[in-house]
Amino acid sequence: MSHSEQLQATVAALVRPGRGILAADESGPTIAKRFKAIGVESTEENRRAYRSLLLATPGLDAYISGIILYEETLAQRADDGTPLPEVAARHGIVPGIKVDAGKIPLALAPGDEITQGLDGLGKRLAGYREQGARFAKWRAVYNISDTLPSRLAIKANAHALARYAAICQDEGIVPIVEPEVLLDGGHTIERCAEVTEAVLHAVFHALSGHRVAFEHMLLKPSMVVAGKDHPRQAGVAEVAAQTVRVLRRTVPAAVPGIFFLSGGQTPVEATVHLDAINRIGPQPWVLSFSYGRALQEPAQQAWRGQPGNARAAQDALLTRARLNGAARDGRYEAAMEK
Ligand code: 13P
Repeated sequence: MSHSEQLQATVAALVRPGRGILAADESGPTIAKRFKAIGVESTEENRRAYRSLLLATPGLDAYISGIILYEETLAQRADDGTPLPEVAARHGIVPGIKVDAGKIPLALAPGDEITQGLDGLGKRLAGYREQGARFAKWRAVYNISDTLPSRLAIKANAHALARYAAICQDEGIVPIVEPEVLLDGGHTIERCAEVTEAVLHAVFHALSGHRVAFEHMLLKPSMVVAGKDHPRQAGVAEVAAQTVRVLRRTVPAAVPGIFFLSGGQTPVEATVHLDAINRIGPQPWVLSFSYGRALQEPAQQAWRGQPGNARAAQDALLTRARLNGAARDGRYEAAMEK
């Protein structure tokens, strides 16, 4: 298969009807935080046990088309010795890999951040391909206030995302481009819309400049919402309308799919919002989910590190995956939560 055919096949597998992507690529410090909340120590074996459990969920492939793994997980094995990326692939779930090296302060831009990890990326990707990865993820983070993000931060992160995406496509790996405008802060939903529009505009301008094929990438944006400390939280219909409006203004129709992050929304909020977004009507792209916390929180609560709870944890994951699968088609009903 040529790189172009490989990219096309991966995209087609990821955007299959009724499905979304499970983000299980928490970095070392992040998974330690999630485990601490359920009283589990973050050892390599506990991380392996937990992520094996997620992947072994019976029937998960009915609602999940891809899973984003962390580098460590790509090399880990299930209890029977099968490499975890192969467990995913056997279930019909495409394995992917987080490839950015995290965020640091952006020099000379107080309050802004930049994502690092470009050096040597092509070589790393070739290795990840060998291990079974077919798509990748890079997350850029934008802090929001009256003055942030600066124009410099918008431009620098767009450039890094575009370089990353171009290197991925050059290696036959589908890039998921993730510009995340954070939920933190006291800003209005209008301010979030303004920032998200500027960010996405710059990202697609840079992607185009770096010759990235829009047909062979996916976008993973945040939804347009009010800051979590703002006294007036926008209603569901307003979040959906503002989100779709910004996306329609900035995302080319050639992009096959938009897979939202949950970003700190509760599991139910994330499902309700995705459903409302899809109910607005047909759009040029698939509008689906690539949730981390909103898919995994209930599973982690059920698991709490006890092998005896594995089945309950898998049931909890499957339930959220199924409900988001419905929301992805605008078919979710609150009664389905029971
Ligand atoms: P959340 O859905 O928890 O925001 O995680 C998605 C993700 O991959 C963040 O990079």
